[in-house]
Amino acid sequence: MSRLLIDGGYPLRGEIAVHGAKNAVLPLLAATLLADGESVLHNVPPLSDVGGCLEILTDFGCRVRQEGRTVTVCPDQADKPVISDRLMRRMRSSIVFLGAMMARFGEAHLSYPGGCELGPRPIDLHLSALRQLGAVITEERGQLHACLPDGRFHGETVSLAFPSVGATENILLAAVTADGVTTLLNAAREPEISDLAAYLTACGAHIHTDGGTIRIEGVPRLAAAEHTVIPDRIEAATYLAAIAATGGDGTVTACCPQHIDTVLPLFSEMGCQLSVYADRVRLKAPRRLKRIPYLRTMPYPGFPTDAAAPLLAAATVADGTGVFVENIFECRYKYVGELLRMGARIKTEGRVAVVEGVKSLSGAAVDCTDLRGGAALVVAALAAEGRSAIGELQHLDRGYADPESGLSAIGARIRRVDP
Ligand code: UD1
Repeated sequence: MSRLLIDGGYPLRGEIAVHGAKNAVLPLLAATLLADGESVLHNVPPLSDVGGCLEILTDFGCRVRQEGRTVTVCPDQADKPVISDRLMRRMRSSIVFLGAMMARFGEAHLSYPGGCELGPRPIDLHLSALRQLGAVITEERGQLHACLPDGRFHGETVSLAFPSVGATENILLAAVTADGVTTLLNAAREPEISDLAAYLTACGAHIHTDGGTIRIEGVPRLAAAEHTVIPDRIEAATYLAAIAATGGDGTVTACCPQHIDTVLPLFSEMGCQLSVYADRVRLKAPRRLKRIPYLRTMPYPGFPTDAAAPLLAAATVADGTGVFVENIFECRYKYVGELLRMGARIKTEGRVAVVEGVKSLSGAAVDCTDLRGGAALVVAALAAEGRSAIGELQHLDRGYADPESGLSAIGARIRRVDP
């Protein structure tokens, strides 16, 4: 089992670039299934989840090529509307393929994405919306079988009870080639949704967004397009948290500061000086961070749930006590047990974590419990005195591309060791 060895306590200084956004590229890869011809995606991050998506597309029968950070997908010969149980288990977010598979093939067969490390991960909103658009979906012993009796989705007005990111993406993917107009109310507004809409529009889709309402006029066919994936806002927030927690002075580059404009004020609250430019943010941390009094996660444009864990890790070494409230997922604090091993003082109760800052953490052997929890451990280990060894890196590798190279370049003493 590989581990990251981190000797902490050194302020991070210099420039670190972020990659393309994981949460944007997964639905974009699903979308390439809808566009005839060769779509080209640039700024694709080298992540294990991307590898999983490329395997899914290859299993469908798509022609897939990857050269560096550019991926080319041609679905013209695709004819197998099945996602294997193995790939569904590896990546529960592969449910985002459902709408695109049905629109392309008229049917889809995949296993049900059960619970995960963040608690139960229901897909009721995805299924009920797709049913409203004409899908017939049966669930049988953990398997989903879906078909379109008329061969096409039908436009409808669909209202989401919660602005689910994945459900919004599935509905967009179903509706762009549907017969008629779909109006989606209470849609998610995350930048990754806008990126998906931008690619689909380049492919010939008719999508009009007005806040949480998306109006989609179905078109019979889409044609391939070239697109550059937006920067990863969660990776940007994580590296800023690492610079802050180590008392550093560093710049996160190749990012989109606008996408983290609810995250940046919290760093100012912690006493950091920020200089924000078009595609970079410089953060200069004080000798000791001030507390974050209160942080609550919300759907975009609120504070992103995925950025809460790295900020909580920074708060463990701040001066004072803060309250974190998680409003999106039921069970997001599994990593807190690992932070306690490093000397953090945190109490959790349901969706609330109370973090009492300590002067310093001490390095320890810890394991990633989930993707963003893993990021929190890296931030904490960089700030801690002494050596940490972080295991179960398969979680971290789903969302952070080669973090040891980027972090080493800004002064972190970090290396990966294989067993
Ligand atoms: C996406 C992101 C994830 C991020 C999350 C919230 C990807 C690949 N993942 O996940 O990193 O943390 O958005 O910003 O983009 N829900 C239901 N029924 C449904 C669907 C969702 O009850 O049918 C609930 C979920 O259990 C959760 C909440 O809605 O409590 C938010 O989920 P959702 O917005 O759908 O997140 P994902 O798309 O899974």
